[in-house]
Amino acid sequence: MTNTTLPADCRALVLFGATGDLAKRMLWPSLYALDRDGLLPKQFQLIGAATSKLSNDEFITKVQQSVQSSANAKLYDEAGFAAFAQRIRYVSINIDAPGGLEPIRSALAPASEGSGGVIYYLSTGPQLFGPICLALRDAKLVDAASRIIVEKPIGTDTESARRVNEAIGAAFEEHQVFRIDHYLGKEAVQNLLALRFANAIFEPLWNANAIEQVQITVAETVGVDGRWGFYDSTGALRDMVQSHLLQLLCLVAMEPPASFTPSAVRNEKVKVLWSLRPITGNDVEAQTVRGQYTAGYSGGEAARGYGEETGANAGSDTETFVALRVEVDNWRWAGVPFYLRTGKRLQRRSSEIVIQFKSAPYNIFAGIGASLAPNVLLIKLQPDEMITLTLMHKKPGVNETKLAQVPLNLSLGDAFGQGRRRIAYERMLLDVLRNNSALFVRRDEVEAAWTWIDGIIDGWKSTGQKAKPYPAGSWGPSAAIALTEKHGHSWHE
Ligand code: BG6
Repeated sequence: MTNTTLPADCRALVLFGATGDLAKRMLWPSLYALDRDGLLPKQFQLIGAATSKLSNDEFITKVQQSVQSSANAKLYDEAGFAAFAQRIRYVSINIDAPGGLEPIRSALAPASEGSGGVIYYLSTGPQLFGPICLALRDAKLVDAASRIIVEKPIGTDTESARRVNEAIGAAFEEHQVFRIDHYLGKEAVQNLLALRFANAIFEPLWNANAIEQVQITVAETVGVDGRWGFYDSTGALRDMVQSHLLQLLCLVAMEPPASFTPSAVRNEKVKVLWSLRPITGNDVEAQTVRGQYTAGYSGGEAARGYGEETGANAGSDTETFVALRVEVDNWRWAGVPFYLRTGKRLQRRSSEIVIQFKSAPYNIFAGIGASLAPNVLLIKLQPDEMITLTLMHKKPGVNETKLAQVPLNLSLGDAFGQGRRRIAYERMLLDVLRNNSALFVRRDEVEAAWTWIDGIIDGWKSTGQKAKPYPAGSWGPSAAIALTEKHGHSWHE
């Protein structure tokens, strides 16, 4: 939700972890696209910082390859890339050595040559966030105009998140900190705010009087091959629910903010997190399901089980799937279950939010044998971006009255043309350039989310709840189906 003003108050972006996986897949291709669209300030410098010893040319060749093999490959052209490469400098750094950040200072053009502050982007392991922030501060590379972008995960529980936030806070004021949750950069997620707060028809229905249940699914077909070590110490609850799913839940459940400003939006989101009913102790048995994929078929191909992936420890109990029944204890949502589920190696890649309304209070068509299905608002985030409202209709014909559920589809592509699908990071980077932190996660949000997640993890430990096996290519363990069905609901498929 960026405005169209050209950002002018930043002079450089320093990317730590410039040769890493995220930089390669997302960040350099996003920066290239912004440059092609004329959205980077004129003198804006891009400084790639990493520990490898590389020449500038070697590094630029890597950036070029990453753009050419990315989702933005179609935008690539020689002249455009040559102009983009003019902005780039590579520096090899060592945050542990005295003067180890000096190459950054030398690469930055003097402030007088460009206006505004420097943005530091930490696309590194989270264990480096604190040390890099302190090293930047000690090297006097931080001033009032600086900004810092950090990636998830911020910690692995409340305590560690606090430590990371303290270390960041020792060098940067909170308003200078941009914690990225890339789900908030997805077009359809941003559209959810427009759907809710730019239309009058939904608000009177957006509460426990009219809504029966809400479902949030983020299903992936990929496994964890290649990052088993990281994943095994993390699991689906920490990797996906603490961040992406809770952020989506906040956008669905929040009160209308007073304005679209960072503090107004984030104040409302954090209130939702504070209202989540804790799931602790024995409640975890009834309200959570943990799963782990076993061998099966995914995307038409044979897939190995989690314990057979490269580098795996066969005895691991880490969950690759989690389903939760969540309650939001406030006036708007009292008694409405929010079902969340996410997992790897599921049947289809599909992220969606389902709002199921209550059934009609009385069926006047019962006498002619027609049953009424409740209305459903389906917000599909990926792979397609689509909003669908299902309504009951009369089937055309004269002989008998038959009713059927018919979807009213709004495809964003059809409505607005099939423009280029932007990488979520393009929007997020532009927001940082424009100093708009509305769709970034504030410190208190991260810590409130962890506090709630910690309760579940403690419950899992105290009850010894094990991950249930599910075959790759399925929708997770059958216990996830039972989680909804025992309350008279079923997952939207
Ligand atoms: C990341 C998780 O934050 O999000 C990954 O660490 C996950 O495990 C990814 O695969 C999913 O993002 P997207 O945009 O592909 O849905």
